[in-house]
Amino acid sequence: MLLPNVSCHQILAVKNRDKISILAIPGSLRVNSSNNAVISTAATLVAGEVDFIIYEGLGSLPHFDGSDDPAPEVIEFRKLLKEADGVFICSPEYAFGVPGSLKNALDWTVSSGEFVNKPVALITAATGGDKAHASLKLTLSVLSARVLEESTLLIPYIRAKINDSGEVTDNETIQAIKNIMDTFIRDIKER
Ligand SMILES: Cc1cc2nc3c(=O)[nH]c(=O)nc-3n(C[C@H](O)[C@H](O)[C@H](O)COP(=O)(O)O)c2cc1C
Repeated sequence: MLLPNVSCHQILAVKNRDKISILAIPGSLRVNSSNNAVISTAATLVAGEVDFIIYEGLGSLPHFDGSDDPAPEVIEFRKLLKEADGVFICSPEYAFGVPGSLKNALDWTVSSGEFVNKPVALITAATGGDKAHASLKLTLSVLSARVLEESTLLIPYIRAKINDSGEVTDNETIQAIKNIMDTFIRDIKER
């Protein structure tokens, strides 16, 4: 099953206030990121069912400094988190850990609390990825996010599961992403 590629802008264009909203946060800033391919696949699978917004500001957030008067980028990030019914984090693993830019973004929410009780789905897509996956789960639990085990997925060997056009091509992986999204959406709706 090969899914059509949906760009961030196409997804943003179908924003509809009557639906639940999911804010997707990609942990990779890389051009042709495989995690973006996973997010794109997830967006395609739930198209029509939810407002799927992809956060594109990770690389523009300042380094966390504990400021009580943070930059507009931080305020905007917090606002997007607050407004979303659920947050979908999809990240690689770098040097056995969580990518610094993603960890930085999460650090900006520790004192402001946007993740408290927020439904979160987590996919880690990397070569191995188990360490970043475990670390992200730990950080999300410290942030008091609502993370169901069934809404988490580790996708190892991700590069072998996407094609040159940035589409997930592995059927098992597509089905696993669909299962995660179905569970995540059901949980948000039942709350
Ligand atoms: C600098 C660097 C370090 C990496 N370290 C790890 C690692 O520790 N564990 C792992 O599973 N994959 C590691 N990888 C492989 C990435 O997870 C893989 O390239 C993945 O596709 C990156 O995600 P992206 O395509 O969304 O950018 C590393 C890649 C790079 C470039």
